[in-house]
Amino acid sequence: MTHRIAVIPGDGVGREVIPEGIRVLNAAASGLEFEEFPWGCAYYEKTGRMMPDDALPILARYDAIYLGACGWPTVPDHVSLWGLLLPIRKTFEQYVNLRPVRCLPGVKSPLAGRGPADVDMLFVRENTEGEYSGTGGRVHSGHATEVAVEVPIFTRTAIERVARYAFERARERSRRLVSVTKSNASRYTYVLWDEVVAGLGAAEFADVTLERVHVDAMAARMVMRPDTIDVVVGSNLFADILTDLGAAIQGSLGLAASANLNPEREHPSLFEPVHGSAPDIAGKGIANPIGTIWSGALLLRHLGEEEAAGRVEKAIEAVTSEGEFLTAELGGSASTAEVGQAIAQAAVSPPT
Ligand code: IPM
Ligand code: MN
Repeated sequence: MTHRIAVIPGDGVGREVIPEGIRVLNAAASGLEFEEFPWGCAYYEKTGRMMPDDALPILARYDAIYLGACGWPTVPDHVSLWGLLLPIRKTFEQYVNLRPVRCLPGVKSPLAGRGPADVDMLFVRENTEGEYSGTGGRVHSGHATEVAVEVPIFTRTAIERVARYAFERARERSRRLVSVTKSNASRYTYVLWDEVVAGLGAAEFADVTLERVHVDAMAARMVMRPDTIDVVVGSNLFADILTDLGAAIQGSLGLAASANLNPEREHPSLFEPVHGSAPDIAGKGIANPIGTIWSGALLLRHLGEEEAAGRVEKAIEAVTSEGEFLTAELGGSASTAEVGQAIAQAAVSPPT
């Protein structure tokens, strides 16, 4: 079966890691058609836009979107993100941002004594509203009286749909779900969140144990007792922050993968590493491609290529556990391409 994938390498190391992701996906599965779009900050410098006017209708025609990174010091971050990634997430109702946080064999976690047996979490991040609603404004610009407001928006619909997805994942795994809020300090939005999640749990997921944890306590628990955490659901901002902590626990931000999912498949979903464009190491060929390759495995799974997805994940583990091809931040000396080649070789589909 043919799958058409729109590729946006984007900025910085995004352009170095995406070719490795494509290399591995092509090794693992057949029938993938990639088409590349040169959108991002360099495109902005030429055109004044991060992507063209008709970008969203163009992307809508693809089965999936594979993104490297978005953002560069020449363009303010809020301009680059609100010109590309955030409109894609919102327009295509990619309301789940799925982020596995798993320690890989052969990679040392900064948490002493912790490894693959202790750290295997699955974050389900609300991805369309909350603290990222974009509602707000500034008045009296530049004056002493200047005011800025940014209003988080939480709707019952969006809370319930992301919670349902998280409960379903919990049901497939350990039947334990942690819901993260801060409903002691915030009296409205997170209290609504807690009510909706608890109500859904009671009505449809009585077999799943739901635990409500405040985000501050959750940060501590991820460090102290990661072994007690399985599936986690949280708001856009909280799960953004906690998944960077998760990436650190994995041993490198370069390992962390994500899938921006429209579970109903009415629109394409987007797959991207959690890291950004990393201007400090861009252009050197040393960025870790594993987060991108792992995101590619999530892409294959979403397209129904479960067997190939599993093979890519196994290939990543085989290469990290073997230890010959690791990038510098993991203590190795392999280049981005060498890691990609090693994983591609291990992921090759068996002859049929
Ligand atoms: C991420 C990133 C983005 C986010 C930024 C770049 C807007 O940090 O995907 O986690 O906060 O969602
Ligand atoms: Mn982030």
